[in-house]
Amino acid sequence: MENPILQTIRTRRSIKLNHLKPDPVPQEIIDQALEAANWAPSHGETEPWRFTLFTGEARHNLGQLFAEAYELSAIESHPFKPETAEAQRARATQAPVWISIGMTPALHPNGDRKKPRDEEIMAVACAIQNLHLALTTHGICGKWTSGTVAVHPHIAQAIGLTPPSELLGFFYCGYPAIHWPDSIRQPWQNKITTYGQPNPN
Ligand SMILES: Cc1cc2nc3c(=O)[nH]c(=O)nc-3n(C[C@H](O)[C@H](O)[C@H](O)COP(=O)(O)O)c2cc1C
Repeated sequence: MENPILQTIRTRRSIKLNHLKPDPVPQEIIDQALEAANWAPSHGETEPWRFTLFTGEARHNLGQLFAEAYELSAIESHPFKPETAEAQRARATQAPVWISIGMTPALHPNGDRKKPRDEEIMAVACAIQNLHLALTTHGICGKWTSGTVAVHPHIAQAIGLTPPSELLGFFYCGYPAIHWPDSIRQPWQNKITTYGQPNPN
């Protein structure tokens, strides 16, 4: 019989926003996923993950933030297009749940970091993997989005992630409206270098 954890790991999938059903995700399931996230490892038990949950009507506020962040980034890099701003606003209601992915580093009293920034980010990534796996067990897909808008300092500030805290993107999730998405991996054996003899089974 297949190991159930391995099966969940293999089943976990990212999904496009427009492939989600509008159906809400029960709060109990969201809470369980957030608890799973909280069991992630972190160097020195810094527990740097911070989340903000947007569901229901609050997603309109998030859509407004997406549109504003797009406008600011468009001014910084590309010409502003009103239809893109509108699409950014509409994104927020395309998933029933959005979770901001924040990192708040642990600091010494003098303001120095207790652990390197990279390690704090890695710990947050572990937390998101736990969260995504927990949702998978309930037939829920999701995706970490980390584009320009999703990590924009304007949104970070609005949700209380001021430096040295950082916004690493957003995780949205919901029930798939399509068949469960596919993914592929190159064989794991291609990525392993072994010294010594394989252990006996
Ligand atoms: C740190 C991180 C950032 C990601 N950012 C994006 C993103 O901005 N846009 C996107 O479409 N997918 C993003 N993804 C999701 C990947 O595209 C997805 O994990 C990959 O295609 C493998 O698919 P799977 O998650 O279904 O196995 C991100 C994943 C990670 C771990």
